[in-house]
Amino acid sequence: MGELSLVCLTAHTPRYCTYEAAFAGKLAHPDFRPVRDGLVEQGRYLAAATPDVIVINSCHLVSTFPTVVDGTPRHQGVLTAQEAPDLIRGVAYDFPGDYELASALIECGKAAGHQCVLAADIHYPLDYGTVMPLVCSLDRTQTIPVVPVSVTLANDLEECYRWGQHIARAARDLGRRAAFVASGSLSHKLVQGPEKWPSPEDQELDHRFARMLADGEYEKLWAWLPEFVEAVEAEMGGRPWR
Ligand SMILES: [Fe+2]
Repeated sequence: MGELSLVCLTAHTPRYCTYEAAFAGKLAHPDFRPVRDGLVEQGRYLAAATPDVIVINSCHLVSTFPTVVDGTPRHQGVLTAQEAPDLIRGVAYDFPGDYELASALIECGKAAGHQCVLAADIHYPLDYGTVMPLVCSLDRTQTIPVVPVSVTLANDLEECYRWGQHIARAARDLGRRAAFVASGSLSHKLVQGPEKWPSPEDQELDHRFARMLADGEYEKLWAWLPEFVEAVEAEMGGRPWR
């Protein structure tokens, strides 16, 4: 029976992102360690949920008008991150896709009147916000099929919410147990220097958001989302938090 077996937020800050570097503590600032440990724990949760497929929405897989759903049957490539070629370079990835689910998701989107495009192309480039959480912490075996979905700049939060519903419906209709992963930051006021954390006020808002999510207070969270997104300048305007 299809369902969303797991929903999670994950981080992709480049210094977290290479297992041999950040995960071995060579590049990560000591203050990042709890986050790194949390990502490792997140991988354990995902493994325990035994999903058939991971649908991942990265803040760095960006489209302007149509939502792109990547149904490439096998995602293979070598990633050097455009904005961090010093930290993330030459990372080989090779994990299965799920063309059937991606196609079903496109059908749901079209039926609801959304602009959307199906990619099924070995050359479709994946970004570090998609690849690195998967290969570093979420599925290091690279065996679970993955469907990347773009963040769409033309979509407002209401449209993003409806895409979230499409993902759940497409998985249910196909009998897939899907994990949904939003890859990005909550508070996202950029400062220079890894030792500079978000302000105490923004950290408190982040923690409140995480607690509401963990407690399943989805209606309250949805009502608060526009105010939260504006207050913390959430990455990509909060679009991945479908
Ligand atoms: Fe980012």
